[in-house]
Amino acid sequence: MAKLKTSFFCQHCGAQSLKWIGKCPSCNEWNSYVEELLEPAGSEVKVWEKFSEKKIKAAKPLLITDISLAEDHRLQLPDRELNRVMGGGLVAGSVTLLGGEPGIGKSTLMLQLAVRLPNLKVLYISGEESEQQIRMRAERIGFNDTQCYILTETATSSIFNHIAQVEPDLIIVDSVQTLQSGLIESSPGSVSQIRECANEFLRFAKANGTPVILIGHITKEGTIAGPKVLEHMVDTVLQFEGDRHHIYRILRALKNRFGSTAELGIYEMQGAGLKEVDNPSEVLISQKEHALSGSAIACTMEGLRPMLIEAQSLVSSAVYGMPQRSSTGFDLRRLNMLLAVLEKRCGFKLATRDVFLNITGGIRVEDPAIDLAVICAVLSSSEDIPLNQRICFAGEVGLSGEIRPVNRIEQRIRESEKLGFEKIFCSRYKMQSLDMNRFAGIEIVPVSRVEEVFSLLFG
Ligand code: TYD
Ligand code: MG
Repeated sequence: MAKLKTSFFCQHCGAQSLKWIGKCPSCNEWNSYVEELLEPAGSEVKVWEKFSEKKIKAAKPLLITDISLAEDHRLQLPDRELNRVMGGGLVAGSVTLLGGEPGIGKSTLMLQLAVRLPNLKVLYISGEESEQQIRMRAERIGFNDTQCYILTETATSSIFNHIAQVEPDLIIVDSVQTLQSGLIESSPGSVSQIRECANEFLRFAKANGTPVILIGHITKEGTIAGPKVLEHMVDTVLQFEGDRHHIYRILRALKNRFGSTAELGIYEMQGAGLKEVDNPSEVLISQKEHALSGSAIACTMEGLRPMLIEAQSLVSSAVYGMPQRSSTGFDLRRLNMLLAVLEKRCGFKLATRDVFLNITGGIRVEDPAIDLAVICAVLSSSEDIPLNQRICFAGEVGLSGEIRPVNRIEQRIRESEKLGFEKIFCSRYKMQSLDMNRFAGIEIVPVSRVEEVFSLLFG
């Protein structure tokens, strides 16, 4: 018997080596090489090629001006949030990778899309659940008139045979880690399998113009399991995130060849599937009867959409020697930095106190404009003085305690005004370009330093 050919692959980045090595020279990951069987060359004809041959045209050089602009070959999805995150619909022949932690709702989101696409054939391929389970989930989500086919199969050769028969308009694969190609002998989920299977779908999508959505798992480190090359191969990478114990979920585009990556979709997980949230600001601010200390409202931008969210903080004296710093939804290092600024600039002795910070709704915020609200929440809790609930904040805080301007301030002010806020604190810098008279319903308070904010709020 001929000796089986094997090679070693980095499970992190997909680099190949003939012998085992401890540290990957390409991504510097330790202990990531795993031995895998190499494909027996030419043993099987690639199935997708059989029926897409006719459609493939030989490529030839074209003058860029001669290339016709295929106007809007976008499939409008029945899901507004998904549409927006994708840049205005699903592009024909595109491959999208949807990543997210287990149990976050990836399968629900995709099945919901599959059963609600009117007049289009969707093939939902699942290697994770049985037909009954999927049917039960679909019952829960609710549908009436659908052309969704369910296939529980993991071998790609057989999948492409079914695709040839069904001829779907959209293919959803749950998940790419369960797929297995006959061309490669390593087990499903390994780097070379994932890469090969994704590649087969990629070539299929490009040759047939059928959009494909691949669901992918996420590793402990928070990256999509499988080689990084997978993210380079596909056209769009979406990430579904949120706190599993909260009802809100966020859909972000990490990469999008057909649109901006700044857009963001917000969903609410309900008993009957995921519901789009049209007006996030209204749901993310907790409705309180009395103002409580330690809470401040920030006007952030997520993508092109302004959103008001609440920062809550609790400052108490440390019982143990080492004060605790804990933060949910906000970068802990950034919190430490802000606390250091408070200590140095406002003379607060926070070194002996515990500080907890929470962004309500289980949402992770990256917009630096939330800094000012975080500082005000900490100050309010530390002084035990509640802030007026009709005040909001938008400003980045620098290391020397200066309040720095943030982008799209006009839009933020308008959103705050719309939601009935009476005052907004923002940076004094770059205010010249702003026409104050345009905002009649809200008072704009320009500030330049943290100390100034403190004296304005707490006197
Ligand atoms: P699921 O889509 O299976 O997650 P993933 O595919 O990302 O692993 O989501 C499962 C969770 O969603 C599970 O905890 C139950 C919950 N869920 C609802 O709350 N409402 C629903 O209508 C559905 C279908 C699921
Ligand atoms: Mg799933």
